[in-house]
Amino acid sequence: MFRVQAPLPERYTNAGPDDLAARIGAAKAALGSRLFILGHHYQRDEVMRWADARGDSFGLSRKAADNSGADYIVFCGVHFMAESADILTADHQQIVLPDLNAGCSMADMADLDAVEEAWESLDEVVDVERLVPITYMNSSAALKAFVGRHGGAVCTSSNARAVITWALERGEKLLFFPDQHLGRNTAYQLGFGADDMRVWDPKRDFGGLEERDAKEATFLLWKGHCSVHQRFGVQHVEAARAEHPGVQVIVHPECAHEVVELADQVGSTDYIIKAVDAAPAGSTLAIGTEIHLVQRLAAEHPDKTVFSLDPLICPCSTMFRIDAAHLCWVLENLVDGNVVNRITVDPDTAEWARVALQRMLDIT
Ligand code: 13P
Ligand code: SF4
Repeated sequence: MFRVQAPLPERYTNAGPDDLAARIGAAKAALGSRLFILGHHYQRDEVMRWADARGDSFGLSRKAADNSGADYIVFCGVHFMAESADILTADHQQIVLPDLNAGCSMADMADLDAVEEAWESLDEVVDVERLVPITYMNSSAALKAFVGRHGGAVCTSSNARAVITWALERGEKLLFFPDQHLGRNTAYQLGFGADDMRVWDPKRDFGGLEERDAKEATFLLWKGHCSVHQRFGVQHVEAARAEHPGVQVIVHPECAHEVVELADQVGSTDYIIKAVDAAPAGSTLAIGTEIHLVQRLAAEHPDKTVFSLDPLICPCSTMFRIDAAHLCWVLENLVDGNVVNRITVDPDTAEWARVALQRMLDIT
């Protein structure tokens, strides 16, 4: 998705960390309860320290939905999260994303045209009344609206199991996008096997499948992935186990199934945080998720050895775009009465996306 972030003025790009921190603190104090800052767990510490609430995608969507007081919600996360916040908050609330280039490469792997094309192709072969579309939270508002219109729901990494179970009570098949890994890992968790799943490749005719595949499969998994989590491989789990006997391996469900299978625990970012909190002092924990969260967990648990499952750093380059300078820029503008980088979703898209998001909130 093409977005353009204007370069920041020099008083932000040339400012040192202490100066920026003092200015962010002053702007935050001036805005008081009119401002609510949300921070996703993958954000840098220089940003996260200012968050009024931290969370995974699901937790943050709930926090946005529950907050009706603040006029400005500054979302330190990525574009699809800010869109969801706009959909779930009241009309007087304005959502601000500090850097418009903070997108998500996975979300960009499925767009409305490609999903509509897939749906129309499938309509010729299967009963789409019995096909339930499920979109991962990491998708555009347009796709959430598509799902809302077609009787489906949104899911996140912390509730995919509950949402898929719900979908299978409503229909007989799922079209799951954009993350094949979350779909596959959850299907295995629910007791399905490889024969029940097919990968839908949007770049190929009829997803690269035969009609028979579409008829037989329970899960049609969109060929999308997270470039951060796909980096973790079996070799990393084997190396961690060889070098750290007794290590607990905890990974995010956006990782490939063979990694999830070898791991001791799998769960959303919030789950990973709770698992590290719950591990006894002296534990050794190899974590398969974004590096900023892993580094924060290591710093917060000096009594445990916490390290990244992949020794080469795995940052999410789009989450990383949000820094203290951009946060300072949006807050100082808000103090001056200028709402910069507002994220809005058009009313028709928002109405149907809200249906899909609300189904998720009701299911879980
Ligand atoms: P959760 O916040 O649901 O764990 O997802 C991680 C992620 O990739 C967010 O973009
Ligand atoms: Fe997207 Fe992966 Fe970054 Fe999450 S970690 S925002 S899924 S690219």
